[in-house]
Amino acid sequence: MEITPARAQDIDAILDLWGELAAFHADLDPAFTPAAGWRAAYAGYLATLLGRPDARVLVAHQEGRIVGYGVARITFLPPFFAERRRGFIQDVFTNQGYRRRGIARRLVSDLLAWLREETVATVELTVAINNKEAIRLWESLGFRPYMQHFKLALAGPGGR
Ligand SMILES: CC(C)(COP(=O)(O)OP(=O)(O)OC[C@H]1O[C@@H](n2cnc3c(N)ncnc32)[C@H](O)[C@@H]1OP(=O)(O)O)[C@@H](O)C(=O)NCCC(=O)NCCS
Repeated sequence: MEITPARAQDIDAILDLWGELAAFHADLDPAFTPAAGWRAAYAGYLATLLGRPDARVLVAHQEGRIVGYGVARITFLPPFFAERRRGFIQDVFTNQGYRRRGIARRLVSDLLAWLREETVATVELTVAINNKEAIRLWESLGFRPYMQHFKLALAGPGGR
């Protein structure tokens, strides 16, 4: 398995994986339901990320295809926080047939290496409360919960 920074020609393969990631999350909770035009919207978003120095998109190659990807960004809290600059892991996904082979662990470890090089001190992420395997992944890598993300559906597809 090889992990490389994503290139523009990898966007289509990443979009296939994002579609699976989004469908998986929409099953976990309807609040994650992707928009009808998600593919074009996410393609545009990814294309901007590839050119940004504060973002890292990595892809995992196996048997000549892209079987996983991960995205990290450097974000800023408002100026009234002492440590404003934070790493944020946005997406990590491994294709079904390639799971439990250490691909996500490698992707995350390379994203963390990049954040360290960028002198980021704290890395954060959010995970759906009922995404048990992802919670195991993050805990196995040393991440610890420090916030809970609540929602209240007043109307629309966020409700259940
Ligand atoms: C979560 C996910 C990224 C893990 O990918 P992966 O490549 O299979 O993960 P790895 O093989 O690197 O596993 C690393 C560790 O995570 C934990 N883990 C991963 N999958 C697990 C599972 N199904 N059950 C329990 N623990 C699991 C284990 O501690 C594992 O180490 P081990 O195999 O030595 O026990 C993958 O299941 C996935 O893509 N899920 C859907 C998308 C998603 O939830 N992304 C994260 C959103 S926050």
